[in-house]
Amino acid sequence: MKLQCTEKEQIAGKGKAIEVKNLEVRFPVRSGLFRRETAVVRAVDGVTFDVVEGETVGLVGESGSGKTTTGRSLLGLAPAIPGSVRLFGRSLEELMNSRHDLQKIGQLVFQDPFASLNPRLAIGAAISEALYVHGMKDKSARHERMFELLDQVGLRPETATRYPVALSGGQRQRVAIARALAVEPRIMILDEVVSALDVSIQGQILNLLMDLQKTQKLSFLFITHDLSVVRYVSHRVVVMYRGCLMEEGETESVFRNPKHPYTHSLLSAVPVPNPATQRFKRKMQIRVEAHNLTSVTVGCRFQGSCPHADDLCRNQEPEILEVSRRHRVACHHWAKIPDFSVG
Ligand SMILES: Nc1ncnc2c1ncn2[C@@H]1O[C@H](COP(=O)(O)OP(=O)(O)OP(=O)(O)O)[C@@H](O)[C@H]1O
Ligand code: SF4
Ligand SMILES: [Mg+2]
Repeated sequence: MKLQCTEKEQIAGKGKAIEVKNLEVRFPVRSGLFRRETAVVRAVDGVTFDVVEGETVGLVGESGSGKTTTGRSLLGLAPAIPGSVRLFGRSLEELMNSRHDLQKIGQLVFQDPFASLNPRLAIGAAISEALYVHGMKDKSARHERMFELLDQVGLRPETATRYPVALSGGQRQRVAIARALAVEPRIMILDEVVSALDVSIQGQILNLLMDLQKTQKLSFLFITHDLSVVRYVSHRVVVMYRGCLMEEGETESVFRNPKHPYTHSLLSAVPVPNPATQRFKRKMQIRVEAHNLTSVTVGCRFQGSCPHADDLCRNQEPEILEVSRRHRVACHHWAKIPDFSVG
């Protein structure tokens, strides 16, 4: 079930579900007896992107690039600087005055559904609890809706009486999705939701999410380090490195014609069945250096790993340029970098 062109065209005419402008998230580092602030982690450092209604945007990057922090900050769960996030046209600050409104707009589902489920609560009760918290006080209405939600996520009615420990990883993830759907959100932030699952189960959950997106008109921010998954589900992709946006564009455009050396490097790490292509990709692979998010880099933050770095890169941070329709890149030399494709 690959994304069709007509779907992309339909999305193109829609409004913005998520608008992120110059998002910054910083965490203080405290040490010593008095827990004084001794440094600041710049987890997200000026990121701008949006998600159109009904669209899936994939957020990718190596570990520590700020994907989870970006996703959490959109729902007020990490300290974004004021004015940087709007959800369906409303500022995050306004939405945070009413937790109820914010949760009705956006829900977060993450990798480990076991952590979000009370082991002593049967699945039916766990879903009913989510419905109760969000205002459904009538017991029989809750009961009915709980079975509807189980059905929507492909679980049998008898799952209601089972406990989390008796479910497989895929079934638990379906329960986590059902609990998120209980509030009828318009946006879902999906953080590594299939990373812990077997490949065949991953496919089932991804297909379920894509079906739900169509029937429930959901907008997804899909966070993952798995590029094959992102290519399968996302209309567009945002590539992050050290808290910054490096490249953004329609998924096929970024995969077939990546412009940023960091994206080249990420794509080089994806195994492909063709040995000749695999050899070429290995040659292209760049060893990405470990980084320290508490120091400020002058110039391009990828310079230490980039084979194309020169004095300009070392002295001036690249701006984000639109290099073709809806394809943006933060690199001084994107036009000179040899073509690369994973097919
Ligand atoms: N509460 C926190 N306090 C201090 N630093 C934090 C906090 N949360 C995240 N960070 C730091 O912010 C940076 C970005 O972390 P984040 O979890 O957003 O990365 P990620 O891209 O989701 O990584 P992964 O792929 O491993 O999940 C990391 O250096 C992390 O250590
Ligand atoms: S700006 Fe320079 S160092 Fe940065 S990615 Fe581009 S070529 Fe490499
Ligand atoms: Mg993460």
